Amino acid sequence: MTNGRSLLVLGATGQTGQHLTRLALEQGHHVRALARTPAKLAVRHERLEVVAGSITDDQLDLDRLLDGVDGVVAMLGDRVAQQDRLVNTEFVQRLVPAMRRSGTRRFLYQAGGLSAVPGRRLALPLRIVRRTIAKSYDGQHRDNEAVMRYLDEQARDLEWMVHRAGIGSDGPSRGELRRSRHWISIGTFVDCAAYDLRMLWDDDAVHTWDGSAYARGR
Ligand SMILES: NC(=O)c1ccc[n+]([C@@H]2O[C@H](COP(=O)([O-])OP(=O)(O)OC[C@H]3O[C@@H](n4cnc5c(N)ncnc54)[C@H](OP(=O)(O)O)[C@@H]3O)[C@@H](O)[C@H]2O)c1
Repeated sequence: MTNGRSLLVLGATGQTGQHLTRLALEQGHHVRALARTPAKLAVRHERLEVVAGSITDDQLDLDRLLDGVDGVVAMLGDRVAQQDRLVNTEFVQRLVPAMRRSGTRRFLYQAGGLSAVPGRRLALPLRIVRRTIAKSYDGQHRDNEAVMRYLDEQARDLEWMVHRAGIGSDGPSRGELRRSRHWISIGTFVDCAAYDLRMLWDDDAVHTWDGSAYARGR
């Protein structure tokens, strides 16, 4: 593990992001968190810098946000806004050029197991889940899929990785998640956050969009 890095955390007030922010601070990192509502962040820490703002704000100063940052973690979601607009994709299309300007190379983007990777269809059972019980998240998955296509086609010079998480509950840790191409476990938010932090610095994860699983093969 690499201590003392500087992270830009997007979605720090969310279900994965709250855990990731706390874990990153515990691991000795400096965290700069962009938050629409800073008061939602439960944690306070001398190495936590909170910047109030929204990814949809065209005036958001990305150069300032990325100043001195070693890696970016995005665990963004706004189910309602994403029904009509590719909110995250539009933001990532502005973030990537800013990362190039600042020299920040590492970028972990958390998507979901129901988001299909470029050029591949989801397996039939997952397509059924997406069309039925997960229907209200369809816009989020379309947005995540567009982010993956953009990263694949236009940002291969950066060291990005996508975590296609399968999260089921905010319960306690169920163990260590490992990168998994074919099987995705229904993990807990805290395990996904710990996984995201490990993957961000894992050279083998660069340019992958795998899922994560508890103790099963790839
Ligand atoms: N939840 C699941 O069960 C699940 C399962 C698998 C994969 N995923 C994927 O994991 C990712 C994150 O999910 P999550 O459930 O951890 O997140 P979440 O609880 O839905 O939180 C989303 C985060 O994004 C922030 N956000 C949304 N719009 C923003 C904006 N315009 N500007 C700044 N911040 C904004 C939210 O801020 P506010 O606090 O201000 O709303 C919040 O911090 C998504 O891609 C999702 O598809 C989720």
